[in-house]
Amino acid sequence: MTRDLLCENVSVSADGQHLQFAGIDTVALAGQYGTPLYLMDEDRIRACCRAYKAAVSAAFDGNAQVLYASKASSFKRIYEIMREENMGVDVVSIGEIYTAIKAGFPMSQTYFHSNNKTDADIAFAMEHGIGYFVVDNEEELFAVEREAAKRGIRQSVLLRITPGIDPHTFEAVSTGKVDSKFGFAIETGAAEDILVKALAQPHIHVAGVHCHVGSQVFDAEVFLLTADVMLQFIADMKAHHGFVTELFDIGGGFGVRYLDSDPVLDLNGCLAEIGRFMKQKAAALGIALPKIAFEPGRSIVADAGMTLYTVGNVKAIPDFINYVSVDGGMTDNVRYAMYQAPYTLFQANAMNREHDMTCTVVGRCCESGDVIQPNIKLPSTIARGDIVACLTTGAYHYSMASNYNRLTRPPIVMLANGESYVAVRRETIDDLTALDM
Ligand code: LLP
Repeated sequence: MTRDLLCENVSVSADGQHLQFAGIDTVALAGQYGTPLYLMDEDRIRACCRAYKAAVSAAFDGNAQVLYASKASSFKRIYEIMREENMGVDVVSIGEIYTAIKAGFPMSQTYFHSNNKTDADIAFAMEHGIGYFVVDNEEELFAVEREAAKRGIRQSVLLRITPGIDPHTFEAVSTGKVDSKFGFAIETGAAEDILVKALAQPHIHVAGVHCHVGSQVFDAEVFLLTADVMLQFIADMKAHHGFVTELFDIGGGFGVRYLDSDPVLDLNGCLAEIGRFMKQKAAALGIALPKIAFEPGRSIVADAGMTLYTVGNVKAIPDFINYVSVDGGMTDNVRYAMYQAPYTLFQANAMNREHDMTCTVVGRCCESGDVIQPNIKLPSTIARGDIVACLTTGAYHYSMASNYNRLTRPPIVMLANGESYVAVRRETIDDLTALDM
């Protein structure tokens, strides 16, 4: 039986029966750690970091850097891995900052996003020596100035610019359009206006500009359109205000494979094309190309993740639908409920069996919308106790998990060099009541 297993870290055991992840038997892992279970392939995460760094460095002659957008998956161990891989990280809350600090991640390599940082957030981040604030609005600019003045420091910032590009990929996560809640639009003059104000602040160093347009992008085109607008803006700001952009962070958004119909991203080709374009554009505009940063989240961790579930109830409603209920749900994977996101699932303990029954895999929340995936194929023999694997769950699963229905969140078990270890333990029912007075 030939199946597209989406990523090279997914395989089937020699006898054809069990799904393997990072070379380890998933059925054995489910037995050892229990389900629902998040697995993370550490070797794959490291390989992705290295592939990005090499591709970006080649494309921009070494004058570039890669920041991991840690909202995709944030826990202590991942920041340790990012530190070891010499990545920068992008954080969006003091919770992410604190987790990174706990992991010994150098704060100077940290970029603080968010469209609504409170004064307390700003003070906390500055107290811990955050590298850059990515300033999203005017109130934030002035709050950063006030906090920096109090400390007698000059705080580096990037300005979040909205280039007016619609990536046409995934509406819910598109952020680059003029009407976005994020950043300052070039088109309306807001971007130039904030730059002028920022340059006038004595305790702020404007290191450069940032933008991010969307997610699940598989080719260079969106980045070329974005770079075209942003480099023009950078050149205009030099001409109008003598402002030299040191760093241009073009955001993340590269795609990963959730289905066999998804394309394979040609990372080297794509980045090389972006590099060539930017160098030509900068030359044509008569400016030096700033240092370029990319901040991928999903494409660093998504296919390094897999979720294992145990099947409970299997319910056939003849002529209507077959339900397969698993012991997790929207609490560990909210992405179908929220975005109708597609997934590939297999019966991990019966890979040699025909996946011949159309069914809808649902979770155990008291909510009809608690669907992991509708209309997929699993073996018609599937029954209570079987193991179901959902692929490509490393990004925006654990980080978006909830305790709805007072369900406990699964642990994260890391797989590295053929071994497994717990990076985040399973939540207990005592954890759930720990905050109750
Ligand atoms: N940089 C900024 C400023 C961002 O807002 C994002 C994602 C990224 C980088 C990383 O994008 P990525 O490479 O992961 O596509 N919860 C949604 C995704 C929201 C993405 C928000 N921003 C999901 O589950 O698909």
